[in-house]
Amino acid sequence: MAEIIDGKALAEDVVAKVKTETARLTETGVTPGLAVVIVGEDPASQVYVASKSRRAKECGFHSVQHSLPQETGEEELVALVEELNADPAIHGILVQLPLPKHIDEGRIIQTIDPDKDVDGFHFINVGRLGTGTLGSAFVPCTPAGAMLMLERVRGRDLSGLSAVVIGRSNIVGKPMANLLLAANATVTIAHSRTKDLPALARTADVLVAAVGRPEMIRGDWVKPGATVIDVGINRIPAPEKGEGKTRLVGDVAFAEAKENAGAITPVPGGVGPMTIAMLMANTLTSAFRTAGLEPPAF
Ligand code: GUN
Repeated sequence: MAEIIDGKALAEDVVAKVKTETARLTETGVTPGLAVVIVGEDPASQVYVASKSRRAKECGFHSVQHSLPQETGEEELVALVEELNADPAIHGILVQLPLPKHIDEGRIIQTIDPDKDVDGFHFINVGRLGTGTLGSAFVPCTPAGAMLMLERVRGRDLSGLSAVVIGRSNIVGKPMANLLLAANATVTIAHSRTKDLPALARTADVLVAAVGRPEMIRGDWVKPGATVIDVGINRIPAPEKGEGKTRLVGDVAFAEAKENAGAITPVPGGVGPMTIAMLMANTLTSAFRTAGLEPPAF
């Protein structure tokens, strides 16, 4: 039976450290500032953004939220981002994705000042991560959180371990692969066109699932003793809970996989809570850098 890696508890540890360090920084006259921007009414995005703003306040940050209507124009959004870039009270800018279809998402991301890009999506930060220049990079929050969970089980140095990342998105799969490489793992990125995915998965000491398909990774894909990091959050029908009810599952068939894994992250309560905690950590890091101080390590 696998060890269950508790993302909720670990996220609380991260947030507790952010609070302590925020108090220390605030004494020097600098309060970390996070601006969250949302366009449109998508209910899931509204929930995410509200919890990001709430967490920021809880950490002692200067927290601002800009909620713009669905019909907001691209130029208007560019102007808001430029205003936030120039605002010395703001250290982190997050524009919630997806944006409405009429707005060029890529243009908006590239408008964000790379040194305030706490999502780590700007080309400059992608390049910093890709070249292992981690001292000045912002690392995307979900893979950063996944790495902290992995570290709890395997330590910081993954020398000699093989890692398989299933999924090649810019938000999770690719940055995750780069982080694993920076930690000295031998990394393979697999995706929908990979041949014999179960056999490849079975070679992994560290298996990361980031495909967005409910319970796709079965128990017999997991090498005995492997560490399994499940990044998927999928809502599926749960008729057993009553008509119209749903429940959250990951990309991994948890009940099966935990029989083989050495350690595994659950869904919910795994990588999910870590994402917002790492956003707080990235914002704090940005404020320390702006103040010319060495940021705390997470
Ligand atoms: N939408 C879903 N996840 C994210 C995220 O990590 N950052 C942003 N900006 N939007 C998202």
